[in-house]
Amino acid sequence: MSAKKVAPGSAPAPGAPFYTPVQEPPVGTALDTSGPVPTLFTPLKLRSLTLQNRFAVSPMCMYSADDGHLTDFHLIHLGAFALRGVALTIVEATSVTPNGRISPEDSGLWTDSQIAPLKRIVDFIHSQGQKAGIQLGHAGRKASTLSPWNRGSRSPYKDEIAPVEAGGWPDNVWAPSAIPFSPKYPHPKEMTVEQIDGLVESFQQAAERAVKAGFDTIEIHGAHGYLLTEFLSPQSNKRTDRYGGSFENRTRLLIDVIKAVRGVIPESMPLLLRVSSTEWMEYTGEPSWDVPETIRLAKLLPDLGVDLLDVSSGGNSSAQKITVSPYYQVDIAGQVRDALRAEGEGGMLIGAVGMITSAEMARAIVQDNEEEGMVEVEGEHGQKTKADLVLLARQFLREPEFVLRTAQKLGVSVSWPKQYGRAGWPKDEEL
Ligand SMILES: Cc1cc2nc3c(=O)[nH]c(=O)nc-3n(C[C@H](O)[C@H](O)[C@H](O)COP(=O)(O)O)c2cc1C
Repeated sequence: MSAKKVAPGSAPAPGAPFYTPVQEPPVGTALDTSGPVPTLFTPLKLRSLTLQNRFAVSPMCMYSADDGHLTDFHLIHLGAFALRGVALTIVEATSVTPNGRISPEDSGLWTDSQIAPLKRIVDFIHSQGQKAGIQLGHAGRKASTLSPWNRGSRSPYKDEIAPVEAGGWPDNVWAPSAIPFSPKYPHPKEMTVEQIDGLVESFQQAAERAVKAGFDTIEIHGAHGYLLTEFLSPQSNKRTDRYGGSFENRTRLLIDVIKAVRGVIPESMPLLLRVSSTEWMEYTGEPSWDVPETIRLAKLLPDLGVDLLDVSSGGNSSAQKITVSPYYQVDIAGQVRDALRAEGEGGMLIGAVGMITSAEMARAIVQDNEEEGMVEVEGEHGQKTKADLVLLARQFLREPEFVLRTAQKLGVSVSWPKQYGRAGWPKDEEL
């Protein structure tokens, strides 16, 4: 970029490969800290990374990648959140091998050509003063399926399976054991030990590529019934070797992946892990991955270099039974957080996700004390901290400006994008 003559307020964003005015402080930063500010709008530090607020965009598959490469669609989709003040935007589940994509149109990072489109998105997010993360995963037995809008009655093929003619690989689907997710999914093959070793290497290489793309953090996808969950669960993992049976054996692959990734990312870079805290199969009376096992795993994570546990649930069985209510998953995050703190394991932060749709709910989840003058929250849930960070998915699709809207609702004055300054709501306007 050539040197540009501009007024001080229009100084270029440092490091951006295109001209855009620096947003300093980043959009979504609380401007008046002389009085009490809800924890939701206070900074969160993860190793060398500082988020100016407690919002993150939860990873969301868009089923729109081109042979694993993200496109202009993703730039606009993800850029919209960063522009509007989300401190951390996490790129969708990105597969470490071609056969680990959920659908043929999923994101991937198994080859170097996939770095550049990701870097373009990271550069944009950074140009707005915000942070970028990427979720790395492998879909296991839920791979080679169709994108949601091609499923069910809209499927031109058999069941949910993406056949070869639709870009799928139904005969090369991996799982810990040869048990399909449901009769409508591909029939997987039990992974060999060589394939397991290779998978750990693939995670490591994808993490190296993510660092090259400039990401500030990586989230390992250990949730929703994809490959790492499948190994954790005694329902999907029936192996009799060192990867199946006991808790130690079922967690071995996940722990190997964490070690491999941690080993190649900078010491200063935080590492996140998403797990399904329960697979909602307790009702069967059979052994299943549940909250006590999650807590047992969580206690091992700080020593492995995991900085934040993102507490999700479900997705490993088509027979799961969930009783859904607004706090159904957030409360589990709170349980895990309490269990860690009770044992002095307070070093690892907790992310809450799932059905967070209102300003009051987001505020209550991370509020670490009830200061005078704060918004009162109805019900018992608001009275106790559940997490350190809130991750939202669908609400950001509905309202990409949710951070700005939440600030207005809670009466917090935050920085707006310079270019949108004239659109800010009047100070006391109720939304
Ligand atoms: C369109 C869509 C795509 C999703 N893709 C992913 C994904 O790539 N990785 C993941 O861990 N969760 C994924 N999820 C789950 C969300 O990250 C989130 O955990 C879930 O939607 C609950 O949060 P919400 O109530 O705020 O939507 C997806 C959800 C949606 C709606």
